[in-house]
Amino acid sequence: MTQDELKQAVARAALRHVPNGAIIGVGTGSTVNFFIDALATLKDRVRGAVSSSERSTERLKAYGIPVLDLNAVDDLPVYVDGADEIDANGAMIKGGGGALTREKIIAEVAAQFVCIVDASKLVPVLGKFPLPVEVVPMARELVVRRLRALGGEPKLREGYVTDNGNVIVDVHGLAITEPRQVENTINQIPGVVTVGLFARRGADLALVGTAGGVEERSFR
Ligand code: 5RP
Repeated sequence: MTQDELKQAVARAALRHVPNGAIIGVGTGSTVNFFIDALATLKDRVRGAVSSSERSTERLKAYGIPVLDLNAVDDLPVYVDGADEIDANGAMIKGGGGALTREKIIAEVAAQFVCIVDASKLVPVLGKFPLPVEVVPMARELVVRRLRALGGEPKLREGYVTDNGNVIVDVHGLAITEPRQVENTINQIPGVVTVGLFARRGADLALVGTAGGVEERSFR
């Protein structure tokens, strides 16, 4: 199976976790694009979606799926999103697609985080994938210096501006053995909007696309 076929398989499997008549949270990325395509085949089953990016919003709307403002929604039974890496405890690196801040906000509201990944995203230790950090532009160099002091090699994502008008610094060379601690430490740097470590609020369930089929891993 190709990587896209694995992504499609987990995207379809995620439909089983979408409650009838619900408003659901929808993430961002190529795997989520397949999820949105799958959701469109059952779109009358959901009342609408809260979206983590302008890209996902556009795709949802193109299928006629209503997109709601998070402020108009009290709770979300489920949030479906991909990840760049996920470890054995459900902690993740996210933000390869630059949508980490809205993703973290929606994940915080959702009762259940269903992570959809192909097996290449499973790692023993987070950090091989450069850790994205969303930063207020005027704080860029301050944050870069602080991240370097933590032992990483921060690189500005050139020419990229987030949906929130900020920049992204990708931190290379970290081996994140204590994800919660690293998440807290980086979040404390003034000017950091969000670090793309999802450890404090990790995944509840991962659907993993493998050559043998979709495997479910429960973390809570
Ligand atoms: C976007 C994300 C994505 O979930 C992550 O980058 C995985 O993307 P893909 O499904 O394309 O591999 O965090 O900000």
